[in-house]
Amino acid sequence: METARITVIGAGYVGLVTGVCLANSGHDVTCVDVDAAKIEMLSSGSSPIYEPGIVELLAKTSASGRLRFATPQDGWAPLLGDIVFVAVGTPMAESGAADLTAVREVVQTVAATTDHPFTLVMKSTVPPGTGRDLVSRFLDDSPHPIGYVSNPEFLREGRALEDWYHTDRVVLGSDDPSALDAVEALYEEVDATVLRTDIASAETIKYASNAFLATKISFINEIANVCDAAGARIDDVSVGVGLDSRIGPQFLNAGIGYGGSCFPKDVRALDFISSESGYSFELVKAVIEVNARQRTLPVDALRRTLGDLSGARIAVLGLTFKPDTDDVRESPAIDIIASLVAEGASVLAYDPLASHVILPEGASRVDDAWTALTGANAVVLVTEWSEFVGLDWTRAAAAMAAPKIVFDGRNALDANALEAAGVRYMAVGRDGCHRRHDH
Ligand code: UDX
Repeated sequence: METARITVIGAGYVGLVTGVCLANSGHDVTCVDVDAAKIEMLSSGSSPIYEPGIVELLAKTSASGRLRFATPQDGWAPLLGDIVFVAVGTPMAESGAADLTAVREVVQTVAATTDHPFTLVMKSTVPPGTGRDLVSRFLDDSPHPIGYVSNPEFLREGRALEDWYHTDRVVLGSDDPSALDAVEALYEEVDATVLRTDIASAETIKYASNAFLATKISFINEIANVCDAAGARIDDVSVGVGLDSRIGPQFLNAGIGYGGSCFPKDVRALDFISSESGYSFELVKAVIEVNARQRTLPVDALRRTLGDLSGARIAVLGLTFKPDTDDVRESPAIDIIASLVAEGASVLAYDPLASHVILPEGASRVDDAWTALTGANAVVLVTEWSEFVGLDWTRAAAAMAAPKIVFDGRNALDANALEAAGVRYMAVGRDGCHRRHDH
C-alpha cells in the first residue's frame, strides 16, 4: 500500500472517524478544525465524541506519528496534503434545507490557498448538484488542479469503527478517473463493493439510502398502529415480513420513531430539495409526519389512562436517540418530556450516558434509574439501553406508585414478565401480545 498524505477538515463525528481509520491503515493524516479547544483535547488523547474503540485507536495512531491535529490559524497551505477530505457540518436550516455555509467556506479557502494540486473528497452530506456547483464556483479557478470526489458516509453512531472496515459499499462520485483511483486506493483494506458514479448520483445515493431506511421505520410503525387496532402482534408481523428476502429483517423495529443527527435532517432536506425543484415527494412527507406522530404516542396513552396528567410523577428512561451513544440530537425524549411537563406532570429522567442535556423546565435529570422510577405513577422507556432491558422489573414495580404504567417506546421489554410483576404494560403495536395470553 502506498502511503498518502491526507488532510481531514472538520474533526466532528465523521471527520474524526475518517482520520483515525485512515491513519490506522498506515496513511499520514492531519485533522484540522477551527475549534482550538477540540484540537487541544484531541492532541492530548481525549475524544470529544463517545464512540466505542475511538480512544484506543486515537492513542495508537497518535503514538505512531501518523495522526496529528491542527487549527488553520497559521494558514491552510502547509496543512493540505495530496488528498483533502471535507467533513464539516451541514446542519438543518429553519426551512429544512441543508446549511452549506461551512462547506462552501472551506472549499473556497482551500482552493484559493493551496500551493499544490490535490484531490478534494466531500464526506459532508450535501444535496445533489452541490458538487458540480462547488467545482464550477471554486475549483475551476484554482491556481492548481483540484479533482473532486463525492464520497458519502454510511457510518452508524456507536458502530462507526466497525462500519468503516466492514461496510456494504463505498460510493465514489467523480468525472475525474485519476481522482477516483486515488480515493479508491485509500479503501484497499475495506471489505466492500466499490461503486463509481458521477458526482450528483453519489450525492443522491446518500439521501435515497437514509430516506429509504427512514421509510422502512415509518412503514413498520404504521403497521404497528394497525396491529394495535386489530389486536395483532407487531413482533411476529415484523419477523414474518422480514423473512421475505426482498424486504429483509433490518429496520423493522416499531416504536416511537427515529431520531439522531442523520435521518431527521436528511429526510427533511430531501423533501426541501424536491419541493424546490417543483416536485412534491409525497412519500417522504408522510415518513416525516408518521415519525412526528409516533413520539406523541406515550403521552396520548398516559393521558387516556391517567386522565389529567397534572401532578402525575413520570419517570423517563433514556434520553439519547438510540443506545450506545451520548447523542441526544432529535431524540424523541426531548419532545416527550416537553409534552409531559406542559400537561403538568413532574418528570424525573435518567440516561446512562447523556449527562450534558438541558431538559425543559419542570423536568430533572437524576443519576440512576431507581431514583427516577421510585414513586413514579408511570415510566416511559425512550431508549432501549441494556441497563433498562435487564432491570429488575419486579423490584421496579414494587417501587412505583399506582397505577404503575410502563410505556415501552421501543418494544424492548418482556410484556408478560412486566405484567406478572404488577405493571400495566403498554407498547407500540404489541396489544395482541398480552391480550393473547390473558384470554
Ligand atoms: C444512520 C444510518 O444508519 C447511517 O447509515 C447514516 O450514515 C447515518 O444515519 P445512526 O443515526 O447512527 O445512523 O442510527 P441508526 O442506528 O440507523 O438508527 C437511527 C434511528 O432509527 C434511531 O433513533 C433508532 O432508534 C431508529 N430505528 C432504527 C427504529 O426506530 N427502528 C429500527 O428498526 C431501526
